[in-house]
Amino acid sequence: MKTIAVLTSGGDAPGMNAAIRAVVRAGISMGLNVKGVRRGYAGLIEGDIMDMDARSVSDIIQRGGTMLYTARCPEFKTQEGVDSAIASCKKHGIDGIVVIGGDGSFRGARDLSLGGIPCVGVPGTIDNDISSTEYTIGYDTAINTAVEMVDKLRDTCQSHDRCSVVEVMGRRAGYLALQTGIACGAVAILVPEVEFDLQKDVIEKINAIKATGKKHFVVVVAEGIGGVEDIAAKIEAGTGIESRATILGHVQRGGAPTGRDRVMASQMGYRAVSLLKQGIGNRVITYTNSKLGDMDIYEALAMKKPLDQEEYNMATAMSI
Ligand code: ADP
Ligand code: F6P
Repeated sequence: MKTIAVLTSGGDAPGMNAAIRAVVRAGISMGLNVKGVRRGYAGLIEGDIMDMDARSVSDIIQRGGTMLYTARCPEFKTQEGVDSAIASCKKHGIDGIVVIGGDGSFRGARDLSLGGIPCVGVPGTIDNDISSTEYTIGYDTAINTAVEMVDKLRDTCQSHDRCSVVEVMGRRAGYLALQTGIACGAVAILVPEVEFDLQKDVIEKINAIKATGKKHFVVVVAEGIGGVEDIAAKIEAGTGIESRATILGHVQRGGAPTGRDRVMASQMGYRAVSLLKQGIGNRVITYTNSKLGDMDIYEALAMKKPLDQEEYNMATAMSI
């Protein structure tokens, strides 16, 4: 292992820059050459690759987004795409790659590893929906952004005795919505993993709480449920409380990473390079029971990550 590369893939997440910095600096410290691939697997196929030195990652640890850019690359899901990427690695003398991204990106890393280019996946997504790890880079920043936004909505909805129905990101996963809802004291949290009855679990609940004197409410809805305008209209019709819908959207993916994301990104990036340096690929970095670790990619991709039902029940019990 002489030369490694780093790329970011899928949706960006705050802390990806800190992870890139960690990979570049760790690689150099361990005597490796390090290259940066722009725009994920698309850049790998096209050969959009640059040399990285210690100074190339100066002043990025505190920045959101990814200096290497990111992309979704459907071509890479085909054998031709993977073959072109492997040819590109050979051309540029890349012996191993650190892939920073989500589950989809890890599937790509598995295919590359199978094709003879050892890869290590570093979990980076605001969704925290990667089964093999309890933590993903970007999650902490995204929660804090969402919480700050919902707090602002609460101020105005309290002033007007309204109900605020807020959509939080997460097309397939409700972790971000659940923890944002807990942190913001939402009256109801609607996520794709838990069945709900709008009439019983939201409207009747609001009416019962309203009878105890509460006049303003926050309902958090995961993107995977969607339809916040419609939900707000139904709450207004069923409770008589004026309701407004807000979609937080991509604001949740930006911003300076929190201290936690920077530290996790640094640790995960360093560990990924340590593995590659030993010639070990086809692994993903994990964080389980407050400990950093790594796992076989196949094993990682076969795992399921259910929403914590106890946490959901706790949130429901608190919102009375
Ligand atoms: P994430 O990594 O955040 O889950 P995506 O699911 O969009 O994001 O995946 C990012 C990229 O990883 C895709 O655009 C594609 O290039 C690659 N990828 C996704 N799924 C697969 C797959 N099943 N096989 C190979 N590559 C994949
Ligand atoms: O996976 C991260 C994420 O932000 C999801 O929460 C969201 O559903 C999706 O990406 C949005 O993707 P795009 O940026 O393509 O709209």
